[in-house]
Amino acid sequence: MSKLELGVCYYPEQWDPSEWRDDAKRMVEMGLDWVRIAEFTWGLIEPARGQFHWDWLDEVIEVLGQAGLKIMMSTPTAAPPKWLIDEHPEILPVGPDGRVRGYGSRRHYCFSSQIYLAEAQRIATEYARRYGKNPHVHAWQIDNEYNDHDTVLSYSDAACSGFRHWLEQRYGTIDALNQAWGTVFWGSLYSGFDQIELPNGLVAAPNPTHALDFMRYSSDRVRLFNRAQVDILRIHAPGRDITHNFMAGSFEFDHHAVAADLDVVGFDSYPLGNLMGSTMPDDEKRRYLRTGAPDYQGFHCDLYRSQGRGRMWILEQQPGPVDWAASNPSPAEGMVRLWTWAAYAHGAQAVMFFRWRQAKYAQEQYHSALLRSDNNLDQAAVELAQIVKDRETLPPAARRKAKVAMLLDYSSIWAADILPHDDDFPNSHIFREWYASLRQLGVDVDFLGPEDDPDGYALILLPQSMIMSTDLAAKLTASGAKLVIGARSGSKTPQMHTPDNLAPGALAALTGVRVTRVESLPALAQEYVQLTNGQRYTFTGWREIVETKEGILARFDSSYCDGSPAIVRSDRATYLAMLPRGTFLQSILKQALDWAGLKTLECDPDMRIARRGTLHFAFNFGDIPKSLPAGDHRTFLIGTDPVNVGDLAVWQENGPPK
Ligand code: GAL
Repeated sequence: MSKLELGVCYYPEQWDPSEWRDDAKRMVEMGLDWVRIAEFTWGLIEPARGQFHWDWLDEVIEVLGQAGLKIMMSTPTAAPPKWLIDEHPEILPVGPDGRVRGYGSRRHYCFSSQIYLAEAQRIATEYARRYGKNPHVHAWQIDNEYNDHDTVLSYSDAACSGFRHWLEQRYGTIDALNQAWGTVFWGSLYSGFDQIELPNGLVAAPNPTHALDFMRYSSDRVRLFNRAQVDILRIHAPGRDITHNFMAGSFEFDHHAVAADLDVVGFDSYPLGNLMGSTMPDDEKRRYLRTGAPDYQGFHCDLYRSQGRGRMWILEQQPGPVDWAASNPSPAEGMVRLWTWAAYAHGAQAVMFFRWRQAKYAQEQYHSALLRSDNNLDQAAVELAQIVKDRETLPPAARRKAKVAMLLDYSSIWAADILPHDDDFPNSHIFREWYASLRQLGVDVDFLGPEDDPDGYALILLPQSMIMSTDLAAKLTASGAKLVIGARSGSKTPQMHTPDNLAPGALAALTGVRVTRVESLPALAQEYVQLTNGQRYTFTGWREIVETKEGILARFDSSYCDGSPAIVRSDRATYLAMLPRGTFLQSILKQALDWAGLKTLECDPDMRIARRGTLHFAFNFGDIPKSLPAGDHRTFLIGTDPVNVGDLAVWQENGPPK
């Protein structure tokens, strides 16, 4: 599937059956290949235990399939029916405040509930048996957005007993747990696994290894829940792609682990909703109010494409204003098309728009769609027509392995949330900031998880790898890649202890650095980093005092330990003893790319360049036309130089390949 496929999310149950045929015909006429259905239909299909009303869904599938659409079917486990909750109220999730979260919206289940797991397997089996081999059903989505509405962590009784069991499997004896957690601290020893509680509602901070293990346990529950449905679909829906729709900005479970069980990683992309909900400074939000931040979607596309081993689909693409952020602006004209092609440039094989027609009632009435609720085309449908024309002009192209990779380990993000030291520690944002700096230099990026093979990259970046095992450090060493290693990396063992040799622990040999103290500075502090090349930058927040015999590229200009090393470079690794941001970060990464012998581009800050096979793409996120960076002879397939506002250009260099 190297040509872009297009699709739409459709809720036939919300419309009169007399409209289905016409909807299907229009979808095909508009150039859509896929229709994604049924993720919230359990209560309609099985309105009472064991009573199944399949007729309407059978008919929908027939109508859509006969019209020529490929169907992505879903298992409906994101919305258990009321009768099931009444039968088993213990299925409901419990918030960190200890309160049960109720029925009446969606995602009202706890991943630890064995009863719910069995019910989810039962209903998934019913759906899979009925439609698994249906010739119109080409792919399956499991459930819907696992962490939507913060539902990965649940503090229920089921979670507590599941956690105890998980700990027993992990540690074997309570003494081993006491050792690993260091419960001698504050005298909080346990004498049996059945004494262990969940780490919410405590007087002071929980034991950090306890908190980290609860994150690991909760993440494992998501993986098991997903896996249980994958296993069912493998039996009843042979040859169909299986996916789940990951969210942007979601780090609460290990997506690498869940992705390993899927054929395709799905991703829901809402560039403006995500911008409004982000911690970006106000001037950035103002600047990209109607375009979305240039790297937010790209970051997730690259992360999820890597997790999907090259297979990533956008399962929900923002079509216009959404209804769920604090405020919901309209995208600038052209942006739905731009986001779609940007997703393709970053490796998407398919893009599906959320949703077909704007709802007239219930929760999402203010969410736009391809069609308005009166059935007329909305702006996104106009742009879709252009996307379909564009598609005709592009030859098939597949994304290639990048030369630069970023290591993202979810447990390091959890660890820094548990022990922040600095309340403003940017944690997961660090990854996006490093990514954005690379992208502004025109560099394509892959992502690695701790289990992945790091071979074949010229440069690997570890923006924040707080938890570092000796195995991972050995793999990185053996990879031969040059490394850029951010502050805090290697500062904790997998048990969340300080390594015997101090930070960066298992990375000590690679970096030639030893961290003897950390401090964090408030934003009002005025301290500097002086580079040996003459550049000077302010920094704030996290800072480390390090010892080294390696080359020093920068020193702190500080009222404490003035002159201590700030950037250290060994033959393999550049180590940063603070968190560079903005232009400082960009200049460090530019130097690191040069050091690794990699080419960069001088790009306008509002322009992004990405490559997919022989195709080069440029996207203008700014408010005036932008010129392309200098380059080889270009044969334009779409657009031209300069690139208009809200527009893109696609070209091949030195003409198409012979
Ligand atoms: C997603 C969700 C969809 C819909 C959409 C609205 O998070 O998967 O079902 O609610 O948001 O933007």
